[in-house]
Amino acid sequence: MRFKGISRLGISFFLVSLSIFFVSASGYVDSNEEGHVSVVISEGGLAFIKDLLVHEALSSINSLRLPKIQKALKIPFVGGVRAVLSNITISQIDVASSAIQPGESGIVIVASGATVNLSLDWCYSYSTWLIPVDISDKGRASIRVEGMEIGLTIGMNIQEGTLKLDLLECGCYVKDMIITLDGGASWFYQGLVDAFEGSIRAAVESAITNKIKEGIMKLDSILQNLPKQIPVDDTAAMNVTFVNEPSLLNASVGLEINGLFAPTQKIVPKSYRDHIKPSISCNGPLKMLGISLEETVFNSASIVYFKAGLMHWVVDKNNVPDQSLLNTAGWKFIVPQLYRKYPNDDLRLNISLRSPPLVRIASDKIDATIISDMTIDVLENDEVIPVACISVEVRASGLVEVSGNNLAGQAGLDGFTLTLQWSEVGNFHMFLIEKAMRVLLKDVAFPFANSRSRKGFPLPIIHGFMLQNADILCTSSRVVVCSDVTYSQTVESHSF
Ligand SMILES: *[C@@H]1O[C@H](CO)[C@@H](O)[C@H](O)[C@H]1NC(C)=O
Ligand SMILES: *[C@@H]1O[C@H](CO)[C@@H](O)[C@H](O)[C@H]1NC(C)=O
Ligand SMILES: *[C@@H]1O[C@H](CO)[C@@H](O)[C@H](O)[C@H]1NC(C)=O
Ligand SMILES: *[C@@H]1O[C@H](CO)[C@@H](O)[C@H](O)[C@H]1NC(C)=O
Ligand SMILES: *[C@@H]1O[C@H](CO)[C@@H](O)[C@H](O)[C@H]1NC(C)=O
Repeated sequence: MRFKGISRLGISFFLVSLSIFFVSASGYVDSNEEGHVSVVISEGGLAFIKDLLVHEALSSINSLRLPKIQKALKIPFVGGVRAVLSNITISQIDVASSAIQPGESGIVIVASGATVNLSLDWCYSYSTWLIPVDISDKGRASIRVEGMEIGLTIGMNIQEGTLKLDLLECGCYVKDMIITLDGGASWFYQGLVDAFEGSIRAAVESAITNKIKEGIMKLDSILQNLPKQIPVDDTAAMNVTFVNEPSLLNASVGLEINGLFAPTQKIVPKSYRDHIKPSISCNGPLKMLGISLEETVFNSASIVYFKAGLMHWVVDKNNVPDQSLLNTAGWKFIVPQLYRKYPNDDLRLNISLRSPPLVRIASDKIDATIISDMTIDVLENDEVIPVACISVEVRASGLVEVSGNNLAGQAGLDGFTLTLQWSEVGNFHMFLIEKAMRVLLKDVAFPFANSRSRKGFPLPIIHGFMLQNADILCTSSRVVVCSDVTYSQTVESHSF
């Protein structure tokens, strides 16, 4: 069970690392790598993480067993006494207040006014020249430690795409100690206090310091083992490799991740924008977390799906509500030659995107241009005869929304233009087929695309954390998600 406590500590530490641990300002490196998704944790977010951390740290320290201490004491009139304190257990630890602050050398976390209750077993034995047989006694004692201060500084930097944590400093200072003995002679009480107070103090201080070191090391190893990709589906994954050094923006922490979509386990789409420093401004009241996604993230997704060959569709009788469109009879008056050459034959539309859809993000909307070629195939006696090809340029615009921890979207048709590429059935006027095309786009193409994008893709949020009250802002070329987060204690695994 203890181990579980520590691993939960690890999870929360991870969000912290995602958020608060900060490398010295002098260590800020302006590397050439580009981060297309930036994450900024505000002061409120830092406070949330700090509270989580303190909570987890306390539960890992609670019921901690300290090593036993033994000493030979010199007691006036009694002489040499061998005393042992064993089963020294922390039964309760509380922290009155805590604070977190990104500083020059790292993230500083301070817990002050901490109190600790300890219980222990004591025993002693001695013999004197007066009474040459061993005399012994034993009992229990409780110790109350007050006014304890704990402080740590954690450095964070990016190494090979992961966050590396270093505990730069860690200290624990015990101010006052009240020792209460159950039983025992009064001379023993004074002897114990005189001889053991310093050792108990040191034992408490080093036990807590070690626990913190252990926690940071565990967390660091969890960070090293985090996947560098968040799978979206069978085709694509978001590259969550950290790039550039973390930065401090006004008591908040900024991190950058590559953020581009890549084929699952394969090549990287090239990036084509200049590097921009993360700076996220959320309108209205401050939220804990800001995640900014550049236009390039969306375009990289479109490149990956395009290259994976997922951007063409065959439309036949199975997936169109208006069946008349898919028989030459329906085109009798629009393309007379077609009907004359292939009377009452079924048709099929083969639609292929010419290039990946290009997404543009403006302050008022997100729009996309989709250029495709639509080949009209006649199906005659098991034969597929391409008879014409029309290029279709569609302009769509959409809205994004946060659904769970996913960024989802819905697109609508703004307009389209049709151009005849070639035809075996004579020239036909595009304006005549516009109506049919509009039906096809509105009733088939967009509902199909929206059914996929409604699910969206996962934002880089660590497993166990949930976005809450998320707002979305579109700025020129970026989508910014501003959100609070909640943490679910039930989570066991450490992943995205
Ligand atoms: C150690 O102390 C705890 C209480 O703090 C007690 O429950 C336990 O029985 C003790 N163990 C031994 C071996 O005395
Ligand atoms: C801790 O010690 C204080 C003072 O001795 C006492 O009032 C309190 O009840 C103790 N708490 C526990 C859980 O033992
Ligand atoms: C820092 O915060 C202050 C007030 O909270 C604000 O006026 C200032 O613009 C912020 N600076 C940056 C770089 O965000
Ligand atoms: C992920 O991003 C990192 C940093 O930009 C880059 O070095 C790496 O090649 C990318 N990996 C993939 C699979 O695209
Ligand atoms: C659809 O058309 C493309 C060319 O635009 C062609 O390469 C592909 O084979 C066609 N698909 C089918 C199923 O006919």
